[in-house]
Amino acid sequence: MTGDVLLDVQDLETEYRAFGGSRVIKAVDGVSFTLEAGQTIGLVGESGCGKTTTCLSIMRLLPAGARVTGGRVLLEGRDLAQLSDREMQHVRGNEIGMILQDPMASLNPLFTLYDQVREPAYHHRGLRGGALRERVLSLLGSVRIPSPEVRMREYPHQMSGGMRQRIAGAIALSAAPKVIIADEPTTSLDVTIQAQYLDLLKSLQRDTGVGLIFVTHDLGIVAKMCDDVMVMYAGRTVEHGPVRQVFGQARHPYADALLRSVPKMGSKEPLFRIDGQPPNLADLPPGCAFEPRCPHAITECAQAVPPLLEVGPGHTSACIRSVELAAAGAAAPGADGGEA
Ligand SMILES: Nc1ncnc2c1ncn2[C@@H]1O[C@H](COP(=O)(O)OP(=O)(O)O)[C@@H](O)[C@H]1O
Ligand SMILES: [Mg+2]
Repeated sequence: MTGDVLLDVQDLETEYRAFGGSRVIKAVDGVSFTLEAGQTIGLVGESGCGKTTTCLSIMRLLPAGARVTGGRVLLEGRDLAQLSDREMQHVRGNEIGMILQDPMASLNPLFTLYDQVREPAYHHRGLRGGALRERVLSLLGSVRIPSPEVRMREYPHQMSGGMRQRIAGAIALSAAPKVIIADEPTTSLDVTIQAQYLDLLKSLQRDTGVGLIFVTHDLGIVAKMCDDVMVMYAGRTVEHGPVRQVFGQARHPYADALLRSVPKMGSKEPLFRIDGQPPNLADLPPGCAFEPRCPHAITECAQAVPPLLEVGPGHTSACIRSVELAAAGAAAPGADGGEA
């Protein structure tokens, strides 16, 4: 199902600077992962942990005041930081598509659907005339827009929210990119439309082999959609691995707490709450950022930032107690009636 490495993110670091640099927020701090053709990676973590900043850094779409301060992003071996703005613009239309949380942000209210969906295919694929029209109709069909010949002459305000989100998906797919980054694309959709939209993305992935980075705070979606999951906390990766392994036995106390805070069907276990506040990114503690909230913290946890340690095949955890806690069953989510 998966194949060649498309995207290779190595030790990415991104900062926001405010007040003339007197306040520095390290929103992304040493994030690494690879994405293969046909693979879906879920990016999860509390609001403010750096998911969107990671995506914007990859796309080179950071707002003013933000800067990538370390690491590399390779797209099929090409270092994206080395590309000119023009080349990068080509990459964004052609090779990496992005679906944003707010579909209106990626739609232009002044242009018809036809004009918007056709744009990437026209500019980046060089399609013209009948071939271009065919492409637009087939894209609108593939995102299940009813009567596309009629609808393509309409404007965004004439569409429902779900339809707009699917159009944004069609635009992202228009140039047949190798990678799609979807940043909470279903947050504004109701549950039924959301399920349809996710099925659609999956079937498009089966057809095209596109690699998908899926940002969401919905762990149910991750379980259904993703091959791998990366859990972020305070700008850092705390756990990363195959969904089945991470969901079966989370190895980092934060990932474990996050999974236990989701209601499970038929479970009588009380819902878990993560006490305390997320950390202030402008003033992180010297050790593990989760240490102040962690029920398993020991003195060493507060002394140095823990490295990501391998805890299984393709599975890493940034907790110095991962192995010990797993052995004791203390970090086990108890999904299959694990010992207390
Ligand atoms: N435009 C901005 N200016 C300054 N700080 C920002 C800006 N956008 C985000 N941040 C900071 O970066 C952190 C990560 O934000 P973000 O990447 O949006 O997180 P997420 O997508 O996980 O909710 C936030 O905690 C916030 O403090
Ligand atoms: Mg976000």
